Amino acid sequence: MPDTTTPTLSLPGGHIPVLGLGTWQSEGSDAELAVSTALQLGYRHVDTATGYGNEAQVGRALTTRGIDRDDVFLTSKLPPDHAGRERQTLAESLVALTTDHLDLWLIHWPPGKEARPDVWQRFREARDEGLTRSIGVSNYSIAQIDELIAATGEAPAVNQIPYSPVDHDPELLAAHRERGIVVEGYSPLKRTDLDAEPIVAAARAHGVTPAQVVLRWHIEHDVVVIPKSVRRERIEENLAVLGFTLTPDEVAAIDTLGR
Ligand SMILES: NC(=O)c1ccc[n+]([C@@H]2O[C@H](COP(=O)([O-])OP(=O)(O)OC[C@H]3O[C@@H](n4cnc5c(N)ncnc54)[C@H](OP(=O)(O)O)[C@@H]3O)[C@@H](O)[C@H]2O)c1
Repeated sequence: MPDTTTPTLSLPGGHIPVLGLGTWQSEGSDAELAVSTALQLGYRHVDTATGYGNEAQVGRALTTRGIDRDDVFLTSKLPPDHAGRERQTLAESLVALTTDHLDLWLIHWPPGKEARPDVWQRFREARDEGLTRSIGVSNYSIAQIDELIAATGEAPAVNQIPYSPVDHDPELLAAHRERGIVVEGYSPLKRTDLDAEPIVAAARAHGVTPAQVVLRWHIEHDVVVIPKSVRRERIEENLAVLGFTLTPDEVAAIDTLGR
């Protein structure tokens, strides 16, 4: 049964489901199958990037029978070395993804390690023309984000950054929240020791897997999470984190794995 009830967080240009499918290192027919499987299981949020080389496969999966493009939250990203070629890159993403708009377009990394307000300004123009509903950044520091805000008066809707229990940093989350920025956490599982005691304890208490506890922990912190898998059973397992909650004590115990 498709799940149409994934909770969302508000962005200036729409609503982002708190759980999505990551697709980095999902390649060729594996990528297409993973995305169409996820959509059939009920995912309504897919994260890709020009740099992943799989937008065409994601685009084909979006034509899965019974799936309405308007129900799917679709993210892609501008490679940092495409700064200055934003429009051409976005046009290529849209063709590959078989759509006339993205839901979220991110600057994948600060180009040349710089904030680049000029790139941000061109993102704003693309958004104003309807080519993407929301715009954001990835791998930006708060200082770099503040440069974008100072130059244009507009904060990114999202910053997509590595996030997992060992990365937990309440001050960093608060700094994003103060600026009205939603944090998306990437590599949630890869960065985590799934044998860590508080994770295993919560998994036992809820009869779920440690991986599910980690993904649920992100959601408890209002961090959007985008686990990648190409295996049907894991794609399903990861979606099932919408079906339980962690107690405040369990969240606090997992928080202690961070700094
Ligand atoms: N903006 C950026 O710079 C950036 C950087 C990295 C990632 N990302 C995005 O974030 C997404 C997620 O990050 P990620 O792919 O680096 O790492 P991840 O989602 O933390 O981990 C993916 C790995 O975990 C395995 N896995 C998935 N579900 C599992 C489960 N329930 N139990 C055990 N293992 C499981 C996957 O293997 P199988 O596929 O074999 O199941 C894969 O090896 C990416 O796919 C990408 O969309 C963005």
